[in-house]
Amino acid sequence: MAAKRRIAINTGGGDAPGLNAVIHSAVYAARNLGWEILGIREGYDGLLYPERFKRGGVVSLHRSDVQNIAHLGGTILGTTNRGDPFRAHVTQPDGSVDVVDRSDDVIEAFRRHGIDALIAVGGDGSLAIAQRLREKGLRVVGVPKTIDNDLESTVLTFGFDSAVSFATECIDRLHTTAAAHRRVMVVEVMGRYAGWIALNSGIAGRADAILIPEIPFDVARVARHIEKKTATSRSHSIVVAAEGATPIGGKAMVKPGEPGHAEVLGGVGEHVAKEIARLTGKETRTVVLGHLLRGGSPTATDRLLGLTFGAAAVRALVEGMDGVMVAIVPPHVHYVPFEVALAKMKRVPVEGNGVLTARTLDISFGD
Ligand code: F6P
Repeated sequence: MAAKRRIAINTGGGDAPGLNAVIHSAVYAARNLGWEILGIREGYDGLLYPERFKRGGVVSLHRSDVQNIAHLGGTILGTTNRGDPFRAHVTQPDGSVDVVDRSDDVIEAFRRHGIDALIAVGGDGSLAIAQRLREKGLRVVGVPKTIDNDLESTVLTFGFDSAVSFATECIDRLHTTAAAHRRVMVVEVMGRYAGWIALNSGIAGRADAILIPEIPFDVARVARHIEKKTATSRSHSIVVAAEGATPIGGKAMVKPGEPGHAEVLGGVGEHVAKEIARLTGKETRTVVLGHLLRGGSPTATDRLLGLTFGAAAVRALVEGMDGVMVAIVPPHVHYVPFEVALAKMKRVPVEGNGVLTARTLDISFGD
């Protein structure tokens, strides 16, 4: 049996269905070894601002705390995507906000709590923060999380299958109402700068056009494709637009940002719908699925992936690993050094099987 240890787990960045499965699995794996495991609330905020949390910023996690959570969406620890301790936002007495490096305070808090390693569950941003804390002496194993599925070293991240399944169900529903009115429906889905959610749900939902960041689009081509298809086959159309899709020669559409928050994408669906209506004269509506894609329970695939990753992270610590991210390349779990795991974003290959399948099925990318 491995020596008794005290480890911690936190969840950072946007939530994704499957986070609670990771927590469940890590707690069971650690407790089965006789280790103590603590949960840090809302990224690193539980360490820096414990007074904000009723039950404390750091809580001891027991099997009884997590036994019924693996099937639940969200995260029992809470999360934040404004939680970078290297760029903490501190409100001054005069109301102004200063950006301060509080990473040393985080390291000190880990020492104070006697935590000897962290399981950091997050996307590229959160894992990059974990990597920088590691350079300051914290022992870390990362677990990748994102509905966007845009991390290069892992074939899958949990949350993605749930997002694609839900988006597909929504597209199925939109088909019936669109058909009843002979309308064009433009569905905007999340995904940041990768088109995985749009591509997979668009193919599964039999869309007429899919717009992804990897293939800049010309809306006039989308409009012509819709006119051709409505003249020859069904009378309604579905266009799935990834939030990061860009017109040829243009830029991704962003909403006004909030302080300390990454860029918020959105608006391309509305833009495309207006243009299609103008160019085709067809009644066109927009549906933005947004955070619905992150809500709700994980699919069995995501639950299984979360459980797999949580257990694998604890095994990595047992084996003395540090600075690695758990990854899956089915059927194997791998441990990838942070520098490699975070070096490159995984985008849809424009000549890959997904795009090829869609093109064979007469789905336009507007190119
Ligand atoms: O990275 C996950 C994600 O859901 C993206 O698809 C989306 O662009 C972003 O997070 C939205 O972030 P927020 O929850 O801060 O609006």
